[in-house]
Order: sequence, then structure tokens, then C-alpha cells
Amino acid sequence: MNQRSTLKVNGAGHLEIGGCDAVELAARFGTPLYVFDEDYIRLMMRTYRLALDKYYGGNGMVLYASKAFSCKAIYAVANSENIGVDVVSGGELYTALSAGFPAEKIYMHGNNKTPEELEFAVKSGVGVIVIDSYLEADRLDELCGRAGVKQNVLIRINPGVEAHTHAYVQTATPDSKFGFSIANGTAEEITRHVLAKSNLNLQGFHCHIGSQIFEKQSFALAADKMIDFIGTIKERTSFEAQTLNIGGGFGIYYTDEDPKLTPADYDEYVKILCGRIEERCVEYGLKKPFIAMEPGRSIVGEAGVTLYTAGAVKEIPGIKTYVAVDGGMFDNPRYALYQSKYTVVAAGKMNAPCTQKVTIAGKCCESGDIIAVDVPLPEVKSGDVLAVLSTGAYNYSMASNYNRNFIPSAVLVRDGDAQTIIKKQTYEDIVRNDVLPERLIK
Ligand code: LLP
Repeated sequence: MNQRSTLKVNGAGHLEIGGCDAVELAARFGTPLYVFDEDYIRLMMRTYRLALDKYYGGNGMVLYASKAFSCKAIYAVANSENIGVDVVSGGELYTALSAGFPAEKIYMHGNNKTPEELEFAVKSGVGVIVIDSYLEADRLDELCGRAGVKQNVLIRINPGVEAHTHAYVQTATPDSKFGFSIANGTAEEITRHVLAKSNLNLQGFHCHIGSQIFEKQSFALAADKMIDFIGTIKERTSFEAQTLNIGGGFGIYYTDEDPKLTPADYDEYVKILCGRIEERCVEYGLKKPFIAMEPGRSIVGEAGVTLYTAGAVKEIPGIKTYVAVDGGMFDNPRYALYQSKYTVVAAGKMNAPCTQKVTIAGKCCESGDIIAVDVPLPEVKSGDVLAVLSTGAYNYSMASNYNRNFIPSAVLVRDGDAQTIIKKQTYEDIVRNDVLPERLIK
């Protein structure tokens, strides 16, 4: 099956996703609109789960990294695909639990979880909490003592692997805010500290080297370093980790500058990882740990498309042409943050030749509000539907109400059926939490 299996051009020359005509979706639900392809999401969840079964005897768990796209429906899909999830805030945890997601299959992350978030996690019975500071280890132990709970925990380790990706999404460099460094000895110190806690049950270690990474060898290198660490800790403390969580980070296709991967590539990535972990465990005489992995972007990224309606077209002779859309950095801040690139198509003119390069601008009051620069498109008129591809990850989840714009709604499509999974906000929602103090009303 091809990576972009349900994205096609239909008989009317329109973009189709999940068997739904994108121009019709735009007319029916309004724009901007996030469209999510359910089959694609399920395919990717299954690809990871089956690969872990195949290459590691099922002694592991796929955790969907829900920071990539969090809403009730996605947790319901993950649950029905028999995988776990990771959450990074009380809000994500609350969303998962409200969708009926089983607490024991939830891992809780975060480099600075608040006391309230820790308490919420413990009281909800989340499976594993990943510790990222001494403060947290102490707080959690004390809290679990009061609650009469022995909490399963992992420790976040910084293996010191510099992945080739944008600096903002690298997480295992020596100066990272995340994790305890193996190199400077703090990883060993915190391990001893946590082992001494009577209300914490240390299961093992976690690492995450970054995001939008294509080099499979970067992950194998991280696995090497983690197994070295596990081996050293066993020698020095006699603690043998039962779990190794290797994080997420596998890349996806946005534009022709990226490799166009298929599910077979993701399968191979798991194969390489499992193979390396097994090999190194034999070397150290370690029991094969339970492996957790946390793909986010690769599960939902290419499953998502954002539909916009073109508004004003501004041609600056000899310089550039802007096509302004009814969305912008409030539904997709990734160009503004990381200069991320996207493929853009005219959903109703898929067979028309591209005759120009245009810059897609948003409707926010700042020049940096851009969705994509110099993208080839056919002639675009106000009212045309434009589709930005691969927007399923870190678009809705990073959306805001900047300029008091509405966060767009989202639909889940499958076999020609489209269901709303996130409603569009209303003006009432926009002012819902505003309070006018008495003395300002007079
Ligand atoms: N596990 C941990 C601990 C993470 O921090 C992340 C991502 C993941 C798993 C999932 O990684 P993925 O498979 O999605 O690459 N906002 C940025 C991406 C930030 C990623 C943060 N952590 C962007 O839009 O590119």
C-alpha cells in the first residue's frame, strides 16, 4: 500500500481523501478545516504494532505520542488498534480518560509536570510516569506515599545523540532541557536516587532523540547508548532495567525534499531497532527489555490535510504573488516557528498545470504569518479551495486563538463518510473565559 493511499484525484479532477471530495468537504463543513484520514492512522498504528510483534515477539508496546494530535477521537482509534498512548500534560491525560482510554496503557511525560498534574496522574492510575527531575522524583514519592500507591516509573535519559533535524526539535544534545545525561554522570545519580524511593517502582529508562528524523542509524545509536547504560547500571548497582522506551521521532514526507516513505520503511526502522537492542543485550548478558516506542508525527502527520478558501490575491510585480487564505499561523504555526515546508494543491484543479509560484499567507496581523513560500500552483482565484498536505501532526495541537480567530474544526474521513471530531469554535467560545470586573462595566 502506498503511503498516500487514500489521497487521490477523483473523476471531477478534485482532491479526494478517505473517499471524500475535498471541495465538497469544504462546502459542507466550511474552511479552514482539518481533515483526518482514519484508514491511514489505523494503518500506521498497526504497522508499528505488527512490527514489534514480528521483530521482538510482541514484548513491547507502541505508544501513540498524542502531543502530535490530541482529541477524544484519536484516543478512541488508538484504543481500538490496541496500542497505548503517551501524554504530556493534565489536559492530554484528561482528554484520553474522557474518551475511555485505559489508564494503565498511558505513559505520562513532561520535563516539569506540576504537582497537580502528578496527583491527577497517580490518582487516575496511569501505567507509567517518566521522571525528568530530582524535584519530581521527590514529589512523586511523597505523593504516592500519601496515596498508598507504588507507582511504576521510568527515568528520562539523555543519551547524547545529535540527530540531524531542526535545532528546536533536537532533544538529546548536551545542553538539552530534557533528561539526565549519561556523559556527565547525572543519569547514574538519579537512578540511585529513584531506586532508594520506597513508593516508586523503577522499571527502566526512556530516551527521545528528536523529531522528523530519517536516519535509522540515529535510533540504532541511541539504542546502543541506552543498552550500554543499562549494562553499566547493572554492573554498578545490580539494578537491571526491564523496560526501555526509545521515544518517537521517525520522519514523514512534507515536500519533495523529504524521502517518500512507505509503511515498509517504518517496519524496517522497527526491525533495525529491535535487532540492535537484541544484539547488544546478548553482549552484556542482559535480559531483553520490554520495548516501548512513541511515534507521533509518523502516525498522524500524513493522515491530515488542511483545507482553506483562497481570499485576496496580491501580486507585487517583479517580486512575488501572495494568495491569502482564511487560516494562518493560528491553525498552523509551523512555518513561523521552524520554517517548515509544505506541499500545497488547488483541490478543485488537480489536473490543471502549475503556471506560477505563490506564497500562501494567513490572515493574522503580522508578516511572519505564512503557510508556505513559493509553491507551484495553477492560476488561483478568490473562492478556490486550497489544500495543504501532511498537516496531521503538530498543527491542531499547536493551534491558538491568535487575533481571536477560531481554531478550525476537524473531520475524520473513511470510505466516503466524514464525521466531525472537533467542532469549530464560536464567538461565544472566544469570550467564554473572559471576565469583565464590575468596576469596568460602569
Ligand atoms: N516522545 C517524546 C518524549 C517526545 O518529546 C516526542 C515529541 C515524541 C515522543 C513524538 O515524536 P514524533 O514521533 O512525533 O516525532 N512541534 C514540533 C515537534 C515537537 C516534537 C516534540 N516531541 C513540530 O511541529 O515539528
